[in-house]
Amino acid sequence: MDHHRQPIVAGNWKMNGTVPFARELTRSLRDGLTGQTDTEIVLCPPFTALDAVARELEGSTLLLGAQNLSERPAGAFTGEIAAEQLASLQVRYVIVGHSERRQYHQESDALVARKAAAAFAAGLTPIVCLGETLEEREAGNTEQIVGRQLTGSLAGLAAEQIVQCVLAYEPVWAIGTGKTASAAQAQSVHAFLRARLTENHGLETAAAVRIQYGGSVKPDNARELLTQPDVDGALVGGASLKADSFSAIIRHSA
Ligand code: PGA
Repeated sequence: MDHHRQPIVAGNWKMNGTVPFARELTRSLRDGLTGQTDTEIVLCPPFTALDAVARELEGSTLLLGAQNLSERPAGAFTGEIAAEQLASLQVRYVIVGHSERRQYHQESDALVARKAAAAFAAGLTPIVCLGETLEEREAGNTEQIVGRQLTGSLAGLAAEQIVQCVLAYEPVWAIGTGKTASAAQAQSVHAFLRARLTENHGLETAAAVRIQYGGSVKPDNARELLTQPDVDGALVGGASLKADSFSAIIRHSA
């Protein structure tokens, strides 16, 4: 089935940047990219810069995302941030289940699924991350691992929510290491994920869900990765912190 999926490129700034840095980077991106591309562009600054970035993005086509959220709607949960609070800052997307959260904050597939549900409840769209470690890949378990993560991280979502989810395949060994998956490796896992989506949720849904690749995406490898048939965009870490490299990646995505 031929199905047009709008490319989506998101910048995951991680725990980088003060408010002045965030403002400056956002201005450069906004001025260079607004109306320039058919790609959906999402900036995911740290919580502390969301409001400043939202103000800079007013009237532009770039969208705002957050990097995490609480699975709970409100209450006595010191230090946590709820979906509704994000939504009140013009946040549209939220990354859930990033490997750094799975690794350093013990996030399980079940928790990721609850966070995705919490995002939808407040009108946000989750970017659900998954990916295998080097050990898992070398043991030949990549498909088993990402298949389990896919099913577990979407558990309990309604069909009309699953179709809206953005997935991000991020092999852990490629994140921040400069080692990117080859275009063929990425395409192979993306095709596997789409096949698994077809089994779990049907062909229509599988054909509509956008799957980003993430892990050391740079201007010089973006085109090859982003032209694979099942790669619908990128989740960019390090290279999203510089306006010129992030913009170059976006130009390779349409
Ligand atoms: P990287 O990070 O581009 O710096 O490898 C990607 C990510 O963790 O989303």
